[in-house]
Amino acid sequence: MNSLIEGLVADTLDKLHRDAEASDRDHIEAMMAIIEAPGGSPEQAIAGMLAQERTDYRRVYRDYADNFLAVSPKYGRFLYAIARACKARRIVEFGTSMGISTIYLAAALRDNGGGHLIGSELEGAKVMRARANLATAGLDDLVEIREGDALETLKDVGGKVDLLLLDGAFSLYLPVLKMLEPRLSAGAAILGENAFDPAYQDYVRKAANGYLSRALALDEGRGNEFTVRTARCC
Ligand SMILES: C[S@@+](CC[C@H](N)C(=O)[O-])C[C@H]1O[C@@H](n2cnc3c(N)ncnc32)[C@H](O)[C@@H]1O
Repeated sequence: MNSLIEGLVADTLDKLHRDAEASDRDHIEAMMAIIEAPGGSPEQAIAGMLAQERTDYRRVYRDYADNFLAVSPKYGRFLYAIARACKARRIVEFGTSMGISTIYLAAALRDNGGGHLIGSELEGAKVMRARANLATAGLDDLVEIREGDALETLKDVGGKVDLLLLDGAFSLYLPVLKMLEPRLSAGAAILGENAFDPAYQDYVRKAANGYLSRALALDEGRGNEFTVRTARCC
């Protein structure tokens, strides 16, 4: 069973990726202009984004309220594959936006035989659009999207977590991970998209912290980190 091949899930994802490309074109061009400007570099652009987020991440993402900022189709298929491989039943997502990554993960839950995904999103309008997109894909019965700041809304996820996707404000990956750490099942997969924060990288790459982690050569430049929880769960 692979819901990505055909049917409601595949059709919804095709449409959403097209919408995302159209909606985010200006944003991507603006980022490229910073990188390609004299003296510019990807590292400089990333440092600038981290500094902006650290000042006021709520304002940064309010300015992106109409943008998808979604994972690529390639990364989405990778998410689906990992969730299938670890037979995930309980998934948490930091940063849902319009629900593209959520659809890949919820489709894996469906194909694994069922489960529960808790998403989180700051922007109310995005929460409504994500819920509608999940309903269109026929996956809404598997997903709960919590509106507000994940530092509050994900405090209680009610059980073990088999897979965690970190795709919200990237200056918050470490606090969100530490908050959920007691809930991570042994062998849980943690996917950091835009995991640029050196403090996050240092933490998950240190075996003594109970993780095995490395950068992924997938969508290079997007700071993809793949991490496995090696420590026992509570
Ligand atoms: C990169 S986008 C997520 C894209 C989504 N995972 C996808 O692939 O379709 C990041 C999202 O995280 C949300 N976000 C940022 N900081 C957040 C926070 N502290 N709590 C909840 N959501 C947050 C933003 O509003 C934005 O919609």
